[in-house]
Amino acid sequence: MGKGIFVTGTDTGVGKTVIAAALVLAARQEGLRVAVLKPVETGCRRENGELLPADGLFLQQIAGHTTSLDDVVPLRYETPVAPLVAAGIEGKTPDVKSLLAVFERLRNEFDFVVVEGAGGLLVPISESLSGAHGEFYFMRDLARDCGLPLVIVGRAGLGTINHTLLSVHEAELARIRVAGVVLNQTEPVADTASATNAAVLRKILHVPVFGVFRHLTEKTASSIDAASKESDLGRLVRSAQSL
Ligand SMILES: Nc1ncnc2c1ncn2[C@@H]1O[C@H](COP(=O)(O)OP(=O)(O)OP(=O)(O)O)[C@@H](O)[C@H]1O
Ligand SMILES: [Mg+2]
Repeated sequence: MGKGIFVTGTDTGVGKTVIAAALVLAARQEGLRVAVLKPVETGCRRENGELLPADGLFLQQIAGHTTSLDDVVPLRYETPVAPLVAAGIEGKTPDVKSLLAVFERLRNEFDFVVVEGAGGLLVPISESLSGAHGEFYFMRDLARDCGLPLVIVGRAGLGTINHTLLSVHEAELARIRVAGVVLNQTEPVADTASATNAAVLRKILHVPVFGVFRHLTEKTASSIDAASKESDLGRLVRSAQSL
C-alpha cells in the first residue's frame, strides 16, 4: 500500500492544514503528481446552498486544483463539532465506504496523496461499520484503512510531550506506521518548551522528530514552501514513500 501520507494531529488547531500544505509542496518538488484529501470537514460555511470547506479549498489551491472539491472533501458538515456529532445533528449517515473508494481512486490516479484528518486520532467519525453497539469508527481507523503512514503534528510549545506520546502510542497500538512527528510553532513567541521539546521527544521516541516548523506571518504558498525546506519536509515525503 502506501503512496501518500496521512496528516494527523495531537489536537484540533495544531497546524495540520499548514503542514499538509507544506508536504504537498515538498512532494511536488520531488517530482510527484500530488492529490489532496480532507476526508471529512466540519464547520463548513454555507453559501448558495453549498457547503464550503476552508481546509479543503486551501489544500485544493496548494495542490494546483488537480481534482474536484467533491473528491477533496467528500464528507462536509456545517456544525463545528466532531464528525460523528455533526452527522447526528444534521441527520446524515457518513458513507465511509464511498470515502475509502474516493481515496483508492486518488491513490491509483496520482503518485502521492496527502490526507488531512480532522482533529486527532481518536475523533469519532461514525458508529462502527459492523453496526455493533458501542463501537465506533475513529480517525485512527480511517488512517489504518487508507494504509498510509502517519505524520503527527503537535504544537511546539508547552503540553506537547504528553499529547505527542499519547498519539504515537495510539498509532502503535493500532499498528499504523509513523513516518514522523512535526512540531509546529503556531504561536508567534517561542517559549522554553518550544526550544526543548524536539530534543526531548527525540530521546524518548524512535520515530523521526522534525522540529520546529517556524511561525509564519503569512500563509502563502511561497512562505509555507520556504519553511518546508528549512524543516526538510522533503525527507518526510521520501521516508513515507519507503514505508
Ligand atoms: N507555523 C505557523 N505559523 C503561523 N500560524 C500558524 C502556523 N501553523 C498554523 N497556524 C495557524 O494556526 C491556526 C490553526 O492551524 P491549522 O488550521 O493548520 O490547524 P489544523 O490542525 O489544521 O486545524 P483543524 O483541526 O481545524 O483542521 C490557523 O489559523 C493557522 O493559520
Ligand atoms: Mg485543518
